[in-house]
Amino acid sequence: MTQTETNYDVKDLALAPKGRDRIAWAAIEMPVLRLVRERFEREKPLEGLRLGCCLHITTETANLLLTLKAGGALVTACASNPLSTQDDVAAALVEFGIPTYAIKGEDNTTYYRHLDAVLDSRPNQTMDDGCDLVSRLHQDRPHQIVDVQGGTEETTTGVIRLKAMEKDGALKFPIVAVNEADTKHMFDNRYGTGQSTLDGLLRATNVLLAGKVFVVCGYGWCGKGLASRARGLGAHVVVTEVDPIRALEAVMDGFQVTTLEEIAPKADIVITVTGNLNVVDRQIRKLKDGAIIGNSGHFNDEINIGFLDELAESRRIVRDFVEEFKLFDGRKLYLLADGRLLNLSAAEGHPAAVMDMSFANQALSAEWVAKQHSTLEPKVYVVPRDIDEEIARLKLTAMGIPIDVLTEEQKVYLASWQSGT
Ligand code: NAI
Repeated sequence: MTQTETNYDVKDLALAPKGRDRIAWAAIEMPVLRLVRERFEREKPLEGLRLGCCLHITTETANLLLTLKAGGALVTACASNPLSTQDDVAAALVEFGIPTYAIKGEDNTTYYRHLDAVLDSRPNQTMDDGCDLVSRLHQDRPHQIVDVQGGTEETTTGVIRLKAMEKDGALKFPIVAVNEADTKHMFDNRYGTGQSTLDGLLRATNVLLAGKVFVVCGYGWCGKGLASRARGLGAHVVVTEVDPIRALEAVMDGFQVTTLEEIAPKADIVITVTGNLNVVDRQIRKLKDGAIIGNSGHFNDEINIGFLDELAESRRIVRDFVEEFKLFDGRKLYLLADGRLLNLSAAEGHPAAVMDMSFANQALSAEWVAKQHSTLEPKVYVVPRDIDEEIARLKLTAMGIPIDVLTEEQKVYLASWQSGT
């Protein structure tokens, strides 16, 4: 289809050449997705499928969307966060023939208008990051659900929302929780968020991390990665948690664990990665002058910005993605990227090498839903284990790393229970 003004909304099409180059650069580090794309080109497993995608519009996502298109899907895309879009990539996607609705810094009205534009394409499958598309489809367009065979979900927060929908009996089609694949959360959430959150923090502030008191709220997959990477740069990392097992894990990984209330007066930097609401809340009162607060969880509700605003005499942007809140008592606190996910707002999100596996999971799960949907129920499914293992195997092969294989004798041994000698 030729592009008309009605089937895209991006900042500036003239940015497309830059976007194309950066998409090609990311592709170099995405060998697994490349193999999937080559097979999709041959086999066309998604032929004619209308695929509605609500994802962070980054170079890595572009490689995924091109893979889906190569598989025969008619892809329409919008951003899964108002601040994460890379405008050059959005422009390039339009040139590649993918209707794209995403502008970095779009307001909430535009954000939802863009979601609606994707839903207007009457998708047969959804590909979501945070469940906004699926949630809007269920709430505002239940009549369209009949078109949908299933979908996939990228992130922890989206999976939590979907499981809540399933529990309430509200979910009307099957969704594969891509986040639950080992080759997704063990690498993307941990190493990806760990590195890219620091990338966002450093690009936004250029602060030295060595010697800083660096508080990580939440020691889940993302928190573990962030804590270990911040420690690697010499920060004194302190973890806050609500889950006793994860708190204990943080202690035995060598981190100081305490409450946010307790550590707030000493904290230089506080980053939330919990997927929870108002994690940084009344403790704001105790933060010291100059403290920096940011978030890398999915939604911008982990920091109670309303409360911060109540304490502030004035607010002003002092650098890109850094807002100074001057409090009535004279202290200045700095909020990064309006509390939105720091790695994707102030930097480029995860490196391509980890998104390679996440997005191979997405592509193969979309294929799996296309093949299996008639046998599936409106539930949240995990990525089939053989897909997960195959992605790990392909990644290792691409990295040139061989591993041993079980001998027949070992297989029998591991499957037996009668003798222990
Ligand atoms: P997770 O479930 O593995 O970990 C979250 C942790 O936060 C849990 O251990 C939980 O006990 C803890 N937590 C909850 N409430 C807390 C509170 N009030 N104080 C301290 N700790 C608290 O989740 P995961 O995979 O680490 O994801 C976290 C968030 O990051 C989610 O919103 C997810 O969608 C998002 N995410 C963001 C990415 C990015 O690119 N920025 C990439 C992947 C995930």
